[in-house]
Amino acid sequence: MLKEIFILCLTIIHEEFVSCVPASYQTARDAILNAERQQRLGSQIQLNSAELALDKFLLQNKQTTIENARVGVSDFPPSINFFQSKKWIDDSPVFKIMEKMPKGCALHVHDSSITSLDWVISNVTYRDNCYICFNETTGTPSLHFFNKPPANKGCEWKLISTARSLFGNDKAFDLQLFRNLSIIVDNPDDTYVTVNDVWKKFNKYFGLINGVFDYAPVFKDYFHQALVEFYQDNVQCVEVRATLPQVYELDGTVHDQDWVVQAYQNISKEFAAQNPNFFGTKIIYSGIRFNPVATILNNVKDAIRLMKEYPDFVVGFDLVGQEGPGKTLLYYIDDLLYPSQQQPPVYLPYFFHGGETDWKDTRVDENLIDAILLNTSRVGHGFALNKHPYIKQVMSERGIAVEVNPISNQVLKLVADIRNHPAALLMTGKFPVVISSDDPAVWNAKPLSHDFYMAFMALAGEDEGIRILKQLAMNSITYSAMTSQEKKRALASWNEQWVKFINDWNTYNSNSHHVSRSDHTVKIIG
Ligand SMILES: *[C@@H]1O[C@H](CO)[C@@H](O)[C@H](O)[C@H]1NC(C)=O
Ligand SMILES: *[C@@H]1O[C@H](CO)[C@@H](O)[C@H](O)[C@H]1NC(C)=O
Ligand SMILES: *[C@@H]1O[C@H](CO)[C@@H](O)[C@H](O)[C@H]1NC(C)=O
Ligand SMILES: *[C@@H]1O[C@H](CO)[C@@H](O)[C@H](O)[C@H]1NC(C)=O
Ligand SMILES: *[C@@H]1O[C@H](CO)[C@@H](O)[C@H](O)[C@H]1NC(C)=O
Ligand SMILES: [Zn+2]
Repeated sequence: MLKEIFILCLTIIHEEFVSCVPASYQTARDAILNAERQQRLGSQIQLNSAELALDKFLLQNKQTTIENARVGVSDFPPSINFFQSKKWIDDSPVFKIMEKMPKGCALHVHDSSITSLDWVISNVTYRDNCYICFNETTGTPSLHFFNKPPANKGCEWKLISTARSLFGNDKAFDLQLFRNLSIIVDNPDDTYVTVNDVWKKFNKYFGLINGVFDYAPVFKDYFHQALVEFYQDNVQCVEVRATLPQVYELDGTVHDQDWVVQAYQNISKEFAAQNPNFFGTKIIYSGIRFNPVATILNNVKDAIRLMKEYPDFVVGFDLVGQEGPGKTLLYYIDDLLYPSQQQPPVYLPYFFHGGETDWKDTRVDENLIDAILLNTSRVGHGFALNKHPYIKQVMSERGIAVEVNPISNQVLKLVADIRNHPAALLMTGKFPVVISSDDPAVWNAKPLSHDFYMAFMALAGEDEGIRILKQLAMNSITYSAMTSQEKKRALASWNEQWVKFINDWNTYNSNSHHVSRSDHTVKIIG
């Protein structure tokens, strides 16, 4: 009897010694913990011993980071703006594993914000015929390719090579250009107070990049380079929200939509052929949510036509642009109902951005309702979902996944601290969640690894290890727009890559310093 009390008095909860916990209380406590653990996303996954070894390593590192921050010894990267935390994340053992891990598909990214700015600057702006002009009033640059630049009052075109040599320091010029393209600043909290402040700069990015992105040779190489970078980041497929812009040649030719889709398709096929572990690319044609009703109707009709002409490649339709001030789905309701009102009805899958807002029950927030009524296949962001329990339930029942983009939501100022991101709540249940990166190039994030880091460190709990990562990767295939045949093949291929990833880690770490280092640091906690 005495002995039993003694053992209970040494009960350890979260590394802390708690005085005497009565046995019945402890049992009731464990029951609650277990009930919650069983509900969590990924909790059903069974791990083998090789996976458990990596699980242990990840958990030790995560716990060390969290516990040190909890007691104030250090800071917690996901609670700090990504512009400031990136350097620090990049050095962490957890991030290095996120990079190596096969992550499946990136299901929410945009056409002209997926290739690193380093490549854009070092490659695109060093090509022949690349011109720059600086607005005489504001100093703001624009970029474009020309054979012979037209006169442009108030913003005189000159060869960027000339501007560079006039500037006198190529490196400093390119750094300025990087700063003008990217939304990264040293003090984001002061520079961008509201969502609208940062979107103003974000929109400037698109204005600047599109001048060169729309140039045919760049357009093709940009997309190819995106696939290279995503694949290097261990992403096996990409679904791109694409606006299919008017792509130009130096001689003034402007290509039609078919050319643009064919360029995408040719590059995707070629890339997949060269990289057998890559599953492929899909295009989600996207209209702009500031355009007139008539324009969006034409976009919808184009989407229907393109889906027919490029089956299993063009897979649906969305509306893009800042949701807050933009037009609502309801505003375009006649356009969006057009396919289902044809005789017979035409099936156009939707992939709507919805609820990318902090404003509860506003017209923006209500986009979630229209997205569901329009049978959306997935919801982009769904940041406002927790304020709509009914919609959450419908999505859960119908398997409509939410595409969570943690870093985008942080840098575009919906949430400062990723621990407070609403997806943390979604992941406590078996909600269909996928992780994506939205516009990683604009804030110099890796194609998907940084967002996976955030999901792992801050959306999942301190004691959630490799199960959640495996579940998120598999979800990205399950909820992709691939056909069921394609999904089967993709899942098999992903599984092979996963096994290799686990085995490689175990081989490399079988008696290396990594494991012992984390064993050591975890002791700091007590
Ligand atoms: C840019 O990249 C393309 C495609 O990889 C390559 O062919 C070309 O030589 C590069 N150009 C420059 C200026 O780096
Ligand atoms: C960057 O933008 C600033 C201010 O808009 C401008 O003064 C500068 O010339 C630009 N530099 C480059 C290389 O784009
Ligand atoms: C220069 O910037 C001003 C202010 O944004 C704008 O009104 C003007 O049209 C720009 N000029 C050119 C030539 O783009
Ligand atoms: C795509 O490939 C086809 C077949 O090789 C070719 O005829 C066509 O010109 C290519 N289109 C583009 C835009 O690259
Ligand atoms: C959505 O799906 C339901 C059930 O299949 C169908 O009755 C309805 O017409 C669809 N709505 C639209 C807008 O496609
Ligand atoms: Zn988006």
